[in-house]
Amino acid sequence: MEPTCVGLLVQTTTAVIAELGPTSKEQATTAAKSECDSSPCKKLKTEAAMPMDRIEKAWDHWKKLGEPKLIVAPMVDQSELPFRMLCRKYGATAAYTPMLHSRLFADCPKYRSSEFTTCPEDRPLFVQFCANDPEKLLAAAQVVEPFCDYVDINLGCPQRIAKRGNYGAFLMDDLPLVRSLVEKLALNLSVPVSCKIRIFPKLEDTLAYAHMLEEAGCSLLAVHGRTRDQKDGRVVRADWSAIKAVKEALTIPVLANGNIRCLEDVHECLRETGADGVLSAESLLENPALFAGYRLMDSASDEAEELEDSVELYLDQPKLFLEYLEFLEKYPVPWRMVRAHVHRMLGNWFKKHPDIREDLNKEFKLSKEFLEAVVQKLRDRNERVPLTYHDQRGNLAVKKKCLSLRFSI
Ligand SMILES: Cc1cc2nc3c(=O)[nH]c(=O)nc-3n(C[C@H](O)[C@H](O)[C@H](O)COP(=O)(O)O)c2cc1C
Repeated sequence: MEPTCVGLLVQTTTAVIAELGPTSKEQATTAAKSECDSSPCKKLKTEAAMPMDRIEKAWDHWKKLGEPKLIVAPMVDQSELPFRMLCRKYGATAAYTPMLHSRLFADCPKYRSSEFTTCPEDRPLFVQFCANDPEKLLAAAQVVEPFCDYVDINLGCPQRIAKRGNYGAFLMDDLPLVRSLVEKLALNLSVPVSCKIRIFPKLEDTLAYAHMLEEAGCSLLAVHGRTRDQKDGRVVRADWSAIKAVKEALTIPVLANGNIRCLEDVHECLRETGADGVLSAESLLENPALFAGYRLMDSASDEAEELEDSVELYLDQPKLFLEYLEFLEKYPVPWRMVRAHVHRMLGNWFKKHPDIREDLNKEFKLSKEFLEAVVQKLRDRNERVPLTYHDQRGNLAVKKKCLSLRFSI
């Protein structure tokens, strides 16, 4: 069922401040749209030199944003405003919105207001769209351009729904269309366009693809180092060598995605790929404090039993979840998003206390009070599973809540 329409809401810390509709106005100065070559291969293999001013502009923009390295990946229903704000509090230096459907976004105010909210502190921000129609994509992008730092095109979604809708990774079969999407935005928006891709099985195809995107006007490329068929990230490791090759081949900033489960992985990935930053998805859902150096312990181990800090002093998943609820109160989102977060953030705890999960599943209508009571029930079971970090000698340590942690390399 399609949502009904009301308008795009942009929240300040206290209130909604703007209600907007899409604009269809295209800039009069738009350069002539370049023709898509009927032979994609021929076009793709052309490694045309990038005009220097475009490259410089791409880098100037990236530098103005502070060259963010620790980035919340786009996640449908999961990288929404309160979750982004929680991750930012714990070290994330930029974030993507969930993928938004460009046609619905352009045509339907209710979809806009329920699926996209932001606030002044929610920057740098990538707003991601799926699309297969350049005009609709532009109409959607023009609504969000005042509120973001990049408009991103999803070229990586491998799900069946993307196949049916002909978007995401299925556009890898129609590269002239991809080119026209990128060109449309690059020529008409005041913010840069970025793309998030998956790799092809053959490196040469990935490189030709990346070159084409850069040439079409993409100012930043995020590379998920898995193919369209490698759907389960927990089973197949992302190919960092392919990401490294893309980084070496392109002149615009390149971000690496895949295999980031803790801060040590970030260091390793940046060293191995030379990428300008990393995206993390699955691991952040369980541990939104990952970028601040916190790690999950597998379970309530003996080591945890020996920890001397009181539960009040250290950070654990229930505490993070309570902090999420605070952000939620300030920045409300649909409850289906919240429900998914409870299961991700408290899933390890529910494995040990399935009765509490059952109570949660039975509750049709969630509320902050109900969810706080869920956390209290877990606390009452006297479980202690703090988030930890490994100190320089590799020893397990418990990090006290520390908000000033910043990553530097
Ligand atoms: C719940 C969930 C939702 C996702 N939604 C999107 C999305 O909207 N757009 C997108 O480009 N990728 C999406 N992804 C893929 C991630 O952005 C990321 O590319 C992928 O999970 C690999 O990163 P990871 O190994 O850190 O999980 C999603 C992943 C998850 C787990």
